[in-house]
Amino acid sequence: MNSIKDLFPIFKNIPDLIFLDNASTTQKPTLVLDKLTEVYTQYNSNVHRGLYPIAVRADEEYDRAREKIAKFINADKDEIVFTSGTTDATNLIAQSLLNSQIISNNANILTTELEHHSNFLPWQRVSGNNLEFATFKENQLNFDENKKFDIVAYSIISNVTGKFTDIKDLRKNNLKDAIFIADAAQAIAHMPINVKEMDIDFLVFSGHKMFGPTGVGIMYAKRTFLEKMQPFKVGGGIVDKVSRESTSWTQSPEKFEAGTPPIAEAIALGSAVDFINEMGFNKISQIENELKAYALQELSGLEKIKIYHSENIHSGAVISFTLKGIHPHDIAQFLGDKNICVRAGHHCTQILHREVFEIPASVRISMSIYNSKEEIDSLVSTLNECIAFYRI
Ligand code: ALA
Repeated sequence: MNSIKDLFPIFKNIPDLIFLDNASTTQKPTLVLDKLTEVYTQYNSNVHRGLYPIAVRADEEYDRAREKIAKFINADKDEIVFTSGTTDATNLIAQSLLNSQIISNNANILTTELEHHSNFLPWQRVSGNNLEFATFKENQLNFDENKKFDIVAYSIISNVTGKFTDIKDLRKNNLKDAIFIADAAQAIAHMPINVKEMDIDFLVFSGHKMFGPTGVGIMYAKRTFLEKMQPFKVGGGIVDKVSRESTSWTQSPEKFEAGTPPIAEAIALGSAVDFINEMGFNKISQIENELKAYALQELSGLEKIKIYHSENIHSGAVISFTLKGIHPHDIAQFLGDKNICVRAGHHCTQILHREVFEIPASVRISMSIYNSKEEIDSLVSTLNECIAFYRI
């Protein structure tokens, strides 16, 4: 086992596991699992309510995790809102911008054909017919540059082709003053993100795609928006004064965290940030870029393969492909029978698959720091077996 794999207990429990579905979710290191156990066994209690020692400890840990996450993306602590994930965060933004009349339901919204459904359906719901799609052709996004948009919702790295989109290429001319919503679900574990330098208004991501637990995610928003936005979900923990007729809200970030938050998960997400910081993005990129180059080289030798991948320095280690004549689900099942985990389907990007690639589905491999060239060799030899099996 390579030394990075040693940090992830699942590979000790399942030694032949080849996990190439990291865009879907990553495996969890001991550091994160130990933190979850620590919370539940040493200071399990609710936050923002208790006056006894373990509740004070839970409060401190929850607060420290928020601080770590803020520092990780160069935000301020009160600009970090815990959500249940990327989808929850994007729905919060869309509904709250609308409810607070920061945008109307006639808002002109620009999204892209590359988007995951979670960064497109919340905007479709808000703006109906005023939603426009930047087209994706020859690895480029194209849109009407003469038109003004109120909102631009885009992903920093695509979950299908790995395309990296630089906000600098979008935030100019007529889009200069638009509200930018950046989906960092596929970027957050693969490249440094600096919300101030990038001039992002809202950033969303999930904990479970960055070695953290499921059930927790982040909405970052510039403070100016947080002050103007009304909460989307209302309930306990977010109020200042409640009367029979009306209620006033507390400050951000608590204003957006109604009910009991995912306490242990949020605290363990702080440990996932520690884990990435200790590994360092230089090392992460080096491992992933080498793996990606190797996988592209080896896959391209397969008979009748079509690869969907956007090459550039930041592209996450995501490669999608089809093998002519074999259904992606049959390929994924064949690989799965050998404990090689990949994803098959439209990867929550029906428009991209159906209208741009003109295919119903593809197979996707997505790599992380614990994968190896030997695993890519196993993938490719099993794909050759699969080709022999189905094409006879
Ligand atoms: N959004 C995740 C993926 O792309 C689930 O697989």
